[in-house]
Formats: sequence, C-alpha cells, structure tokens
Amino acid sequence: MDATSITVGLGERSYPIYIGPGVLSMIGADLKARQSGQKYGIITDSNVGKLYGNKLLQGLKQEGIEARLFIFTAGEGSKNLETIGQLASSLAQEGFDRSDALIALGGGVAGDMTGFLAATYMRGIPFVQVPTSLLAQVDSSVGGKTGVDIPEGKNLVGAFYQPQAVYIDTDLLDTLPQQEYRGGLAEVIKYGVIQDSSFFTFLKNNHKNIKQLEPGVLTSMIQRCCEIKADVVAQDEREGGLRRILNYGHTIGHAVEAASDFTIIHGFAVAIGMVAAAKLAPRSLDQGTDISDELTGLLQTYGLPTTIPAELNVERMRKYLLADKKTVGGRVFFVLPDKIGSVRITDKVNVRDVDAVLSNAL
Ligand code: GLY
Repeated sequence: MDATSITVGLGERSYPIYIGPGVLSMIGADLKARQSGQKYGIITDSNVGKLYGNKLLQGLKQEGIEARLFIFTAGEGSKNLETIGQLASSLAQEGFDRSDALIALGGGVAGDMTGFLAATYMRGIPFVQVPTSLLAQVDSSVGGKTGVDIPEGKNLVGAFYQPQAVYIDTDLLDTLPQQEYRGGLAEVIKYGVIQDSSFFTFLKNNHKNIKQLEPGVLTSMIQRCCEIKADVVAQDEREGGLRRILNYGHTIGHAVEAASDFTIIHGFAVAIGMVAAAKLAPRSLDQGTDISDELTGLLQTYGLPTTIPAELNVERMRKYLLADKKTVGGRVFFVLPDKIGSVRITDKVNVRDVDAVLSNAL
C-alpha cells in the first residue's frame, strides 16, 4: 500500500498501521490481498456512516469484495452490551460466520465496540480498524483494547483483541468537529511527555501547521504517536507494567471527566490530568524537574484546558480516583513525569498532595 507504515510487533499476531492522506480509498485493494474474510461487516455510527460508509463500501465493491454496512446510533450511550447484542443478531441474520470479518469505521466508540464484537462473535472473527477521529488514530485503534461500558463504569467489560490492520486516513480529520480534534491533541502531547522530548519540541514548533491540518505534518505527527504506542504495546500487550505509562494524565483525568458528568470531553480531561500529575511529580518523586509550566504552555497553545474547574466536587473526584479500573488491589497508581520525555509509575503519592491538586491548590 502506498502509505507510511509501521508494524505492531506481536509475533504471529503482528499487524501493520498505514498512515496518510487517501488511505480510505486503498483499503479495498489491501483487504483483497490480505484475505482476512470472505465478506466484511462494516460497523459504524450514524454520523460517520453518513460521511464515509458508502465510500468505504464502494471501494470494497470495486475490488469485488462483498460487504454490508451495520449502523448504530452515534455516541458513548450506544457503547453497551445491548448494542453488541443487536449488532450480533444483525450479523447472524445476514449470514456472517467464522469465515467473515469486521471493519471498525469511526472513533473510539466504534473501534472499541467492533473490536469486542469481533472478539466474541462466533468466539472470535478477524477485524480491522479504520479510525476517523484523532483520538482513535493516535490511541484507541492501536493496541487491542476493546470493550463496552456498563452502568457501574466505562470499559468494564472487554477483551484484549488485536486487529489485523489499522488504516489511518488523515483526510478524514477534515470533517472532525474542532473540539474533538483539540481533545485528540491532548493524547498527542501525552506521547511527547512520556517518551520523546524531541516530539514535544516538534509539537511546539509546528503548532500552526498542526492546527491547520497540513497533511505532511499530520502524517508525521500521527506516525510518531503510533510508533511510540506500537513499541509500548509490543513490550507489554496486557498492561502488566510498562503499558501503564499510556495512562499518563488519565488517572486524575477520568475523575475530572466523571465528576463533570462527562460534560468535559475525554481529551480535555486528560489535558487537565496531565498538568495535575506534573504538579504532583516534584512532591512524589525523589528526583526530577517540574515540567508543569512548560506543559501548561504547550497545552494552552493548542487551546486545551489546564486547571480543574472550581465547580467540580473534590469529594466526588476522590471517589472516582479510587474506583478507577486501573486501581490494583486498592492502590492507585500515578504516572508522573520526571522530565519531558520520561515518566515513572508510583503508588506512593501523599493523600494531602492529591487533595491539594484536586482543589487546584498546588
Ligand atoms: N489507551 C491506553 C492503552 O491503550 O493502553
């Protein structure tokens, strides 16, 4: 395929990530060569389906590949076992069996749900990811985390199940709402902080082109994020240790998101959580520099929030911190930066410092 490519190295379950403008129109030819399935079920939501569903379907048909669209109502509210049941019934009614495969076309919700459906339908069929949001392109479509929400919490039912390929078309970001694009940029900045100070500098130097969606810069930016993610996942697929660094900003971020009743979008909450963790770092790690001012500066360049809104209830945030599914045996693990490009994981954070950071008093 004529696009930048990266491999997620997982032995016989390794897979390519293709990145660049126009990738959507190349998927049919690649799937034909790959022969993952006899026919393909494209799972997408009501928004993305309208924009790109038929384009992908036609691209597959041109290659002589049989495919059908399955559309669910857009939004996190659909990411549940009921929708999975309905989609599984539709697949069964259309005669999908173990020789067939799925395509996740959409943002994080479509990707997580389709992956889970693929992991469980007929005890597992192949699937590929076609992420259409920046967050999905740089994070959720890579690494095999799949799942749905239950009333007790987000992503509490799921499976690690890797796709066969990830197709990232940077052109699709043109139709992404501005706010969602900015939210995705918080995850992009995360990679600079956790692993790569030169990438952090790249994000500083190229903010104009990145904000204007310049295709060459976008491809380089997404490529670096996927390289870092692929490298981490290859070393620790099931989050036994290293993969936790990808949760930088998410521990406090999830608490902020939940305490706002999800009125603060995920990426914005992660931006706030990254600054909060940067402020905790000098008090919790024995060495390191305080990166909070430099990080705040970059986040603000991209129009991202950096402080916890005063109206959020500190008690509720504390409760959500403890309930986070990344809590292990009642211990809350924090990913804290000791400089730009390096983080450490610790559960030794003083409760008074956590309270201070939640009340914006640090
Ligand atoms: N989004 C974090 C991870 O995939 O591990």
